[in-house]
Amino acid sequence: MSEAIIEVSQLTKQFKSKTAVHKANFKICRGEIFGLIGQNGAGKSTLLKMIGGLMYPTSGEIKLFNRTVKDSHPYFERIGILIEHAGLFPHYNAYENLDLIAISYGLTSREEHINKLLKLVGLDASNKSKVKNYSMGMKQRLGIAAALIGSPDVLILDEPINGLDPQGISEIRRMILELNKAGMTIIISSHILEELSKVATQYAILHQGEVIEHHSREQLLLQCEDRIEIEVEKASSAVPILEQHLNINHYKVISEHVVYIYDSHIENQHIIKSLVENGVTVHSITKHKQSLEQYYFLARTGSEGDSHD
Ligand SMILES: Nc1ncnc2c1ncn2[C@@H]1O[C@H](COP(=O)(O)OP(=O)(O)O)[C@@H](O)[C@H]1O
Ligand SMILES: [Mg+2]
Repeated sequence: MSEAIIEVSQLTKQFKSKTAVHKANFKICRGEIFGLIGQNGAGKSTLLKMIGGLMYPTSGEIKLFNRTVKDSHPYFERIGILIEHAGLFPHYNAYENLDLIAISYGLTSREEHINKLLKLVGLDASNKSKVKNYSMGMKQRLGIAAALIGSPDVLILDEPINGLDPQGISEIRRMILELNKAGMTIIISSHILEELSKVATQYAILHQGEVIEHHSREQLLLQCEDRIEIEVEKASSAVPILEQHLNINHYKVISEHVVYIYDSHIENQHIIKSLVENGVTVHSITKHKQSLEQYYFLARTGSEGDSHD
């Protein structure tokens, strides 16, 4: 069983009358890529800053590596964090920027560590140009290297692909997957579920400061998989007919009356005919097709809304 290395309970942040994060509860296990999805202003940065030790919670609890932490506990040092734009010095080159951080952390044998990090994020250690001349994507990669100084156990990336071009986005994505493969637990936020779905293994949807849903990748993809929803008199009578007469194996009984069929190539008419012929009353049958973004829209609004294909 995987070990929960971050656990937040009832975590809340209040700014005067504004509740930016309200009673958030979730666990993050070692080796996961935890995706935090939410619109602008949902509270993502506030939540991540609290987990990374950059901001005090108003109430609630944070457990890191199985211990409750308060204030500037040293466990926060095991978390590398990149929030919005990295605080890089524009007039220094990449190496110098990382070296300044490494010095402030009191690291010895800095050169080897820094060269390794530059290589990891795909920046050339011999490139002496000042960071102010870097592209947005290069700055972001350097920001990730900065967050990795001191070899943390957890890396927090707050909207790391914001403002990047498609090539920059795919480079960051590749890097995230590579780091994770090497054992890094990663928390990444975004306002685009589609983008997160390419990397994350767990998802939490944050809406107006509240975690409204929490899914594994499998659960999320199942929500968005094409399916046929049937409503029948009795699901338990329908199942043997689906299996034996229609050869359907990929289905899920949702309730006493509802079954989802994921073998969506089968014609609705065919399903109705078989069920009716075998004495099962069918109340309704609908094809269900939903993109990740439609799903996310529905989760937030709780209604069909005006989602488009
Ligand atoms: N330092 C602050 N003082 C007052 N309000 C803040 C502060 N930081 C964030 N907020 C408010 O808290 C809410 C959540 O902000 P934030 O965590 O930045 O959301 P996100 O990162 O999801 O866009 C917003 O309404 C924002 O205006
Ligand atoms: Mg933010």
